[in-house]
Amino acid sequence: MSSIPVRTVDDLTLGEGARLDELADRQALREMVASFHELFRVPMRVYDERSGLLADAATTPAVYRYLSEFPNGRQAVDAIISEISLIKPTPPEEITKQCFTGAVYRVAPITLDGRRIGRLVLGPFLPPSVRKVDRRLLQLDPRITLERLKELLAELPRAREETVAQISRHLQRSLDLILFSGQKTLLTTAMHLASVRESFRDLKEKNEQLQSAYDRLKELDRLKSSFLATVSHELRTPLTSIIGYSEMLAQGIAGELLGEQQQFVETIHEKGEQLLEMITGLLDMSKLESGTLSMRKEEVHVGELIQDIVETMTPMAMKKGVRMTVKIAPGLPTLSGDATRLRQVFTNLADNALKFTPENGEILLSVEMTQMRTAPDDTEGLVLLSMEAPAVKAVIADSGIGIADDEKARVFDAFYQVDSGTTRRSGGTGLGLSIVKRLVEAHEGTIEIVDNVPSGAAFVVTLPLRHLSLS
Ligand SMILES: Nc1ncnc2c1ncn2[C@@H]1O[C@H](COP(=O)(O)OP(=O)(O)OP(=O)(O)O)[C@@H](O)[C@H]1O
Ligand SMILES: [Mg+2]
Repeated sequence: MSSIPVRTVDDLTLGEGARLDELADRQALREMVASFHELFRVPMRVYDERSGLLADAATTPAVYRYLSEFPNGRQAVDAIISEISLIKPTPPEEITKQCFTGAVYRVAPITLDGRRIGRLVLGPFLPPSVRKVDRRLLQLDPRITLERLKELLAELPRAREETVAQISRHLQRSLDLILFSGQKTLLTTAMHLASVRESFRDLKEKNEQLQSAYDRLKELDRLKSSFLATVSHELRTPLTSIIGYSEMLAQGIAGELLGEQQQFVETIHEKGEQLLEMITGLLDMSKLESGTLSMRKEEVHVGELIQDIVETMTPMAMKKGVRMTVKIAPGLPTLSGDATRLRQVFTNLADNALKFTPENGEILLSVEMTQMRTAPDDTEGLVLLSMEAPAVKAVIADSGIGIADDEKARVFDAFYQVDSGTTRRSGGTGLGLSIVKRLVEAHEGTIEIVDNVPSGAAFVVTLPLRHLSLS
């Protein structure tokens, strides 16, 4: 059965239906026919509607072989065999056909759901009523002898027609069992295949939808970046004028300001500066996303850089009642990077630490040497193995509100701010950390957040001393 292509459930149930050769296991069929033959000694054959003989337990009777030795005899034998093969009984009818030798065949339909799917041929056998040799057999050829005919006809199985009808019924019932289990297997296989095909089609469709959604998103992302770059660039020019003129007004260059006028102009100046900072952040972001941010390569002493940042921020920290401490390991080497961008990284982190640490809190900035694993890279076909390389580790730890585990990855997303009262009070755009992360990565460094003990957050920035992207 396995060589036959499995058809669909619709084919099997609504279409032309299953065939006998698909339903019945050949081996089981052969064994069944053989055991019936052994029991009843009547020759039997099972035919499929299309593919012909499926199983048989019959040899050419000796009398046929004898008659076939003579031309007319052969013709008569061939004729009866072909006549039998053409008998197609309409279910439930069974046909009995008499052969020229006086022997009889019985042809029964094999049915499935009332539809004929094959035939069962029993015979030839001699009914007890046939006692004499038909004289016409002798006329086929003068060489045919009566004695030989008698002898050979006697070898044919003798059975009453009712007995053969009963054998046929038994055989059909046994066949029904084989067919039933065959149909069950065939339908199950077809259904299983249909469901596999269906899920495959479903998956393929979903995959295509996902791919096109991904392509659309990528395109939108590109449009967003270029839109951001253009808009922020265009906004900066008029904004610089607003800041410049408001500053001049505040300084009284255009004449003395009266009462609230001074205060209003100062607010314009202050808000203008804030807006410029935001726009610069957006511009940096879009440049980093499109890979067009230019970076210089110079020797930077991270320890000195952080010391300088702390000195600038200390007055602000003191005002807030937060203590800032620096701890720099002695003899730190310089690393190659962009000083302005690295200053931006640490200023942002220190700024956050101060922003999210309440009064009486503490901020510790420490710098020391470490080793970092460089990612395997493939430059111009040259595969470099990953290896440990010297790096600088800077930790900005605060005793502030801390960052919950499930927020640790998300705070690096652009515009993401943890939804808390402190964040809302502190303002900001949520761009700081996303720029920090990209700048650190542009230096082939890493940044991660760990919990500070006993409270607060600690940002760990690791930067290799030398890296490929800036060389
Ligand atoms: N040291 C910290 N302690 C606690 N939460 C922090 C700390 N640093 C960052 N966060 C959280 O991560 C969020 C994102 O930080 P990010 O610097 O990107 O944005 P921001 O500081 O809110 O705004 P911006 O930096 O653009 O002015 C913050 O809003 C805050 O919720
Ligand atoms: Mg920030």
